[in-house]
Amino acid sequence: MEEAIERVLISAEDIKTHVAQIGAKISIDYDGKNPIFVGVLKGCFIFMADLMRNVSIPCTMDFMAVSSYSGTNSTGAVKINKDLSEDIDGRHLILVEDILDSGVTLNYLKNYLKVRKPASIAVATLLDKPARRKADIIADYSCFEIPDAFVVGYGLDYNEQYRNLPYIGVLKPEIYS
Ligand code: IMP
Ligand code: MG
Repeated sequence: MEEAIERVLISAEDIKTHVAQIGAKISIDYDGKNPIFVGVLKGCFIFMADLMRNVSIPCTMDFMAVSSYSGTNSTGAVKINKDLSEDIDGRHLILVEDILDSGVTLNYLKNYLKVRKPASIAVATLLDKPARRKADIIADYSCFEIPDAFVVGYGLDYNEQYRNLPYIGVLKPEIYS
């Protein structure tokens, strides 16, 4: 598996440190607010698990699963494969994503969930690739800004593979060309 990795971009130790930092920040910012963490599957699963163990205030969690409509859909619509099970009326929502790339997915989700009247919606992402942004969205909590390279590991996949790598690695271009 490691033969497919060109280089390690972010080590497991660096991830641990940064995830702990934003967990501590969220614990301060949301003190007394009982936020609900909403993970966007599947990429969020490792980050969300580590993030929540660094949050020291009362909170709940839920998941959504989405996929982009294939082809050249310029509306940026995403397909909801699994919706929330929890009621979010009046709740402080924290959307948890693996990577903010074009921003289309999170922008769509924010608008989709807004109509259910949460008290607030924030975005927490492990990685941010600002060079590729199309939608007008910024992360409220971000661990790492990365260059425009395709990365895998720590939950992020290429064709469903490599999610189990403990670090973030740049995939060798020959794997996807
Ligand atoms: P966006 O809607 O363009 O922001 O896409 C976000 C989704 O695209 C993420 O949740 C990832 O699943 C996927 N994605 C974007 N860039 C990468 C990458 O470098 N590696 C793996 N998945 C990526
Ligand atoms: Mg993905």
